[in-house]
Amino acid sequence: MSKLRTPVVIVNFKAYAEVEGPQAVRLADICQEVSDASGITVGVCPPTTELSAVAKAVTVPVLAQHVDARSPGAATGWVTPQLAAGAGAAGTLLNHSEHRMVLADLAQAIQMCKGAGLATVVCTDTEATSAAAAALDPDMVAVEPPELIGGNISVTEAKPEIVSDAVKAVRRVDEGIEVLCGAGVKTGKDVRKAVELGASGVLVASGVVKAKDPKAAVEDLIKYL
Ligand code: G3P
Repeated sequence: MSKLRTPVVIVNFKAYAEVEGPQAVRLADICQEVSDASGITVGVCPPTTELSAVAKAVTVPVLAQHVDARSPGAATGWVTPQLAAGAGAAGTLLNHSEHRMVLADLAQAIQMCKGAGLATVVCTDTEATSAAAAALDPDMVAVEPPELIGGNISVTEAKPEIVSDAVKAVRRVDEGIEVLCGAGVKTGKDVRKAVELGASGVLVASGVVKAKDPKAAVEDLIKYL
């Protein structure tokens, strides 16, 4: 898959205790159920250790949280794009604010992912870095102000201009690159606002992974799509 069908909600499981071991497949199953019932794409982004198990269990798009710009071979401990693709990933996040990459490695990783058939979602934090990321030719750019990540105020409320400015900046570089946004996104209203601002979907983590009722949380997120 070179592109993820939009609108899309991508649930990043991060490394939360709630998704350790078989719990990752359980959360992915929930995302699958909501996606099947609604017809909306709900991508899942499990930890690397659970990538293969999750990819076997679901048909929604499974993304790695990160891959390295390393070729197959003597690369102990690194995750090559080919290893992620072989584990069943359809794509990968790159340059997440919790896993930033050196520019040259990011550029190389995007190209290597194309070769391995992985869609790329490059995380950024400003209009300028979004434009710079777009110049590297990923499939998607996801703008997320780090200071709002994990909080209770959605980027769409706290900094709506970051989303709309990033959309415009990316479009100026390449009309074909979709823009997502994330940080503090918790509700369907936040997602609706993201789409009104020009985004093609959201990246969300704590609002689902740490929710008392993750299924209800995903159902709410896709409600207005
Ligand atoms: O990758 C998504 C993420 O960084 C946003 O996290 O917890 O604010 O939804 P959260």
